[in-house]
Amino acid sequence: MMVFSVNGAYAKDYVIGEHKVPVAKPDPASTYKGSESCKMCHTEKYDGWKTTGHPYKLNTPAEAQAFNSPPVPAPDGYTYDDIYLVIGGWGWKARFIGLDGYIITKTGADRKTNGSNQYNLATKGWVDYNPGAVKKFDCGNCHTTGYSLAGSQANKPGIVGTWEEKSIGCEACHGPGSEHIKAGGGKGVAIIVNKSAAMCGACHTRGGDDAKIMSKDGFVEHHEQYPEFLNSPHKELNCVSCHDPHKGVHVGQTNPTEGAGITAQCATCHSKQNTDFTGSTMQKAGVKCIDCHMPKTGKSAVGDIAKFTGDVKEHLFKINSDPNAKMFSDDGKLAMGYITLDFACLGCHTGKDKAWASTYAKDGLHKYVKPAAETPAKETEMPEKTPGFGLFFAIAAMIVAIVVRRR
Ligand code: HEC
Ligand code: HEC
Ligand code: HEC
Ligand code: HEC
Ligand code: HEC
Ligand code: HEC
Ligand code: HEC
Ligand code: HEC
Repeated sequence: MMVFSVNGAYAKDYVIGEHKVPVAKPDPASTYKGSESCKMCHTEKYDGWKTTGHPYKLNTPAEAQAFNSPPVPAPDGYTYDDIYLVIGGWGWKARFIGLDGYIITKTGADRKTNGSNQYNLATKGWVDYNPGAVKKFDCGNCHTTGYSLAGSQANKPGIVGTWEEKSIGCEACHGPGSEHIKAGGGKGVAIIVNKSAAMCGACHTRGGDDAKIMSKDGFVEHHEQYPEFLNSPHKELNCVSCHDPHKGVHVGQTNPTEGAGITAQCATCHSKQNTDFTGSTMQKAGVKCIDCHMPKTGKSAVGDIAKFTGDVKEHLFKINSDPNAKMFSDDGKLAMGYITLDFACLGCHTGKDKAWASTYAKDGLHKYVKPAAETPAKETEMPEKTPGFGLFFAIAAMIVAIVVRRR
């Protein structure tokens, strides 16, 4: 055993074995009782938690079909009777564990075709994940509660380790709760309240060196919010400085409200920039702080590099307005620790380049108001995502103006 030592002050709450998992015991006698056992006294927290992604990380076939409409289908060649558990399928993508506990990697009528084994929610289509490989489910440290490396859940040969509750239950973050419940609950009574970013970081990382942000195919890899955060100007904060851990932010079937779980908005702490931005051309057009400062640089299931957009929002926050700055190392395997202007701007300003963006980004961008003469008359009819039209009309109007004047 060794002590988990990032964000030192809270390290005592966290012990890790081979895996980084919140396995601290608030009381030596404590055992896991499951999230349902917390419900009667903490109904509000429970109901909130149910809207987040955390309870849906591992799902029975019935559960997996219930929370998505239309339901996630089983892979080609399988029915849900052949599935032990569905991995995810809540936010981005689904993978499937067969009755033997192995992740399904071969599909088709004869189950001999490699791949087509990952279902992407955004495209409602199948892609390859470790096609044809013999793939054990060794993901329990981040996908379950009360995980232990010893043994195999339900004696399934393909599963590495056992767990007390599937998915991220209350006790994944608060530690086992039997003694807390036995005592009738109470503040400081046999339960952990850990506010450190390192606690969330036990799962919201790719492991290895948490200070390094891994990247692949032109995107940051997914579940790297902690490494990004450690490289951001917010590293002195905690995840719960902005997040209510019992409410979700990712829009999905169980959480229809974008940003529902955000307790502190950018403007709460950055009033100057908020004041500057208010009334600017882009603010009036509906652009938000996070559109530039938290673009989707991460990719879990789908991404379009031509549009500089993946499907996981960024946690570096800081934009580098140098047009020559690169988002990734030369070998493409690491992110440099800031957002470049392509991701910050060009997803919306298609057809423009970093040099164009840089002329505005370097100075006064928050305050930028397009000169009145250039404002096209029909501005309100502009489609929001194609600001290029605005410029097109502006230029067209200028040319007309010039031509008219020359006459
Ligand atoms: C034991 C592992 C684990 C810990 C600890 C953990 N998470 Fe998560 N988190 C996950 C997994 C796995 C998912 C994906 C869930 C899914 O897609 O069903 C997730 C998803 C999320 C999401 C996106 C889904 C949503 O509901 O909006 C947010 C936000 C989030 N976690 C925040 C946090 C914060 C904040 C903390 C710390 C207070 C934290 N997590 C601690 C594993 C963990
Ligand atoms: C992803 C990690 C995570 C999960 C899952 C989680 N919590 Fe929490 N919980 C926290 C953190 C972190 C805090 C401290 C938040 C803060 O102070 O900002 C907290 C605080 C609390 C508090 C004290 C809050 C207060 O307002 O004083 C209660 C009670 C609580 N959680 C109950 C639950 C219950 C019940 C569940 C399951 C239904 C649950 N939590 C699931 C991370 C989690
Ligand atoms: C019999 C009722 C009861 C049950 C069951 C119960 N709790 Fe509590 N819990 C309480 C009470 C009462 C408090 C104190 C609330 C307060 O002072 O605001 C509390 C406080 C907490 C706190 C905050 C502790 C602190 O020091 O601030 C957390 C976290 C918590 N409970 C988590 C859980 C979890 C997780 C479960 C399920 C494993 C659970 N509780 C089950 C009654 C209960
Ligand atoms: C270090 C922790 C960690 C490990 C290990 C891990 N995951 Fe995850 N996984 C996460 C987190 C956190 C998320 C959600 C946040 C994100 O993607 O940015 C996630 C998301 C997912 C999703 C998408 C969930 C959804 O609802 O869309 C799938 C599927 C998934 N993981 C499968 C796996 C498989 C299979 C393994 C093992 C081979 C694995 N993961 C190992 C932490 C982990
Ligand atoms: C809880 C308060 C808090 C919230 C909420 C917050 N920040 Fe910050 N932010 C800080 C602190 C503290 C710093 C570091 C000190 C500084 O440079 O102002 C910082 C620094 C920054 C910086 C770097 C400043 C510089 O001078 O280089 C950027 C960019 C930034 N924040 C953007 C954002 C965005 C975008 C949001 C919303 C997603 C946000 N912040 C939300 C507190 C906050
Ligand atoms: C249209 C894109 C865009 C939007 C929207 C935006 N910003 Fe920025 N922001 C930038 C760029 C680009 C920089 C970097 C400027 C530089 O290099 O000097 C920046 C810099 C910052 C900084 C660093 C300090 C500074 O003033 O240079 C903070 C803090 C910040 N923004 C907060 C916010 C907040 C809060 C909001 C919402 C009220 C917001 N931004 C909206 C693009 C944007
Ligand atoms: C400065 C504020 C701030 C901090 C600190 C912060 N987040 Fe976030 N986080 C946000 C905002 C804002 C969103 C986007 C909300 C929205 O979509 O409207 C978000 C989104 C997310 C998502 C969902 C990403 C997606 O694309 O669906 C996850 C997961 C997440 N945060 C985890 C974390 C974790 C883990 C930490 C700590 C390591 C953390 N956050 C720290 C503000 C913050
Ligand atoms: C979420 C989409 C979005 C993002 C991200 C975004 N913009 Fe915009 N931008 C708009 C919209 C919409 C308008 C208003 C179009 C109009 O009125 O012509 C606009 C207008 C502008 C204008 C004035 C019109 C023009 O074409 O001259 C400039 C300059 C501009 N943006 C620069 C930037 C820069 C630099 C960034 C990145 C730091 C950025 N924008 C990020 C959507 C976005």
